[in-house]
Amino acid sequence: MPAVVVLGAQWGDEGKGKATDQLGSRVDYVVKFNGGNNAGHTVVIDGEKYALHLLPSGILSPGVTPVIGNGVVIDLTVLFQEIDALDVRGVDTSRLLVSANAHIIPPYNRTIDKVTERFLGKRRIGTTGRGIGPTYADKISRVGIRVQDLFDEHILAQKVEGALDQKNHLLVKVYNRRAITVEETVADLLAYAERLRPMVADTALILNKALDEGKTVLFEAGQATMLDVDHGTYPFVTSSSATAGGACTGSGVGPTRIDRVVGVIKAYTTRVGEGPFPTELLDDTGEWLRKQGGEYGTTTGRPRRCGWYDAVVARYSSRVNGLTDLVVTKLDTLTGLAKVPICVAYDVHGTRYDEMPFDQSDVHHAVPVYEELDGWWEDITACRTFDELPVNAQRYVLRLEEISGTRVSAIGVGPGREATIVRHDLLG
Ligand code: GDP
Ligand code: IMO
Ligand code: MG
Repeated sequence: MPAVVVLGAQWGDEGKGKATDQLGSRVDYVVKFNGGNNAGHTVVIDGEKYALHLLPSGILSPGVTPVIGNGVVIDLTVLFQEIDALDVRGVDTSRLLVSANAHIIPPYNRTIDKVTERFLGKRRIGTTGRGIGPTYADKISRVGIRVQDLFDEHILAQKVEGALDQKNHLLVKVYNRRAITVEETVADLLAYAERLRPMVADTALILNKALDEGKTVLFEAGQATMLDVDHGTYPFVTSSSATAGGACTGSGVGPTRIDRVVGVIKAYTTRVGEGPFPTELLDDTGEWLRKQGGEYGTTTGRPRRCGWYDAVVARYSSRVNGLTDLVVTKLDTLTGLAKVPICVAYDVHGTRYDEMPFDQSDVHHAVPVYEELDGWWEDITACRTFDELPVNAQRYVLRLEEISGTRVSAIGVGPGREATIVRHDLLG
């Protein structure tokens, strides 16, 4: 099975990092194709915790070539901090490849991200403040800085000057901040150029050749379907394509070459930042899920908003991504509940919606229609086959499968690499 996309089916933090890491020993390339260091993936190997942001999770598997694709936005300081931190822990990062077409997050875009949020006030997105949105905006406005620009100081200075011409007006006149100079920005970016140079490659060519040779390539999404700039709960989204199509545009591999699209989905739901979340629990049960699941952001440390499983979201994700498989994660978190509700539809002002309403206002007013299943009390973290799960946990998973539009191929029962029940091989 040569080309597999792994993506988030909800609002992020579903456990994509763990799912990717788990397949690591069996794949040749892991490609990050969207987003940047707004992502946070925690991977636990032999009890040791690794927090990854900009680097693909495949970097933890010896033998994998990790690739940062053209669809990613790169904060160079963070890139090298992450590489250095892994080097200290004995992880080999020397095979990392970076697309010459990926965009750089210039320092001024971090500033603009933060001040924009402040000015939005009540209408803020709750971004991670990493400069992601402004950098993608620059890309689309054609004033972005790309990796390849770092290797020609003249071109780099020209491009930075072009961008700052506009941004300084905004910073000084609207946001009342000091102007940023071309010189300081260029010096900042050039400081990393020589270290970056050996990693830079025509990654689209390399990946297509690898597929020609029958190698296995895993495309690892940052963020998730409901945070996708086109398909998510706009404007409360990130600024990149986190859905399956993004794997193609963000890597230079055509859609006819993708064999499988795996959606990672929590057995309940979480969200960080602002925006609609129909099954959110603002009561003690929400707090219980947060504690039980350790739901605090890997990137910003913010408490994640928690709620029940939403099958409307699951069906929507199955559809817009063309999912072939679901990986249900954190089933162990739900242990100890007498009843486990599943949202099967929405009620919006008296009308039932089985599918995601296309009108954003309806999503804001959606009231979940719940179905309740019996819970289980047994510790399931040591279960390694479906049959070992308590019968009520089995019923819960089978019901999710029935109403989510995609078969459940794996089930997470703990944070460790090994804590997974496999029903269908994701690479088979
Ligand atoms: P990602 O952004 O999708 O990679 O997910 P995060 O790493 O931000 O958040 C998922 C969290 O859940 C991490 O702390 C993982 O170690 C943890 N995790 C993943 N799968 C499981 C699971 O099946 N059970 C439990 N208890 N924790 C899990
Ligand atoms: P992973 O890959 C959860 C959210 C932010 C905010 C919105 C826009 O770990 O699943 P941005 O900084 O991207 O402009 O913020 O998107 N967000 C995430 N939420 N997991 C993530 O990544 C996220 N990346 C961005 O909280 O609401
Ligand atoms: Mg995360």
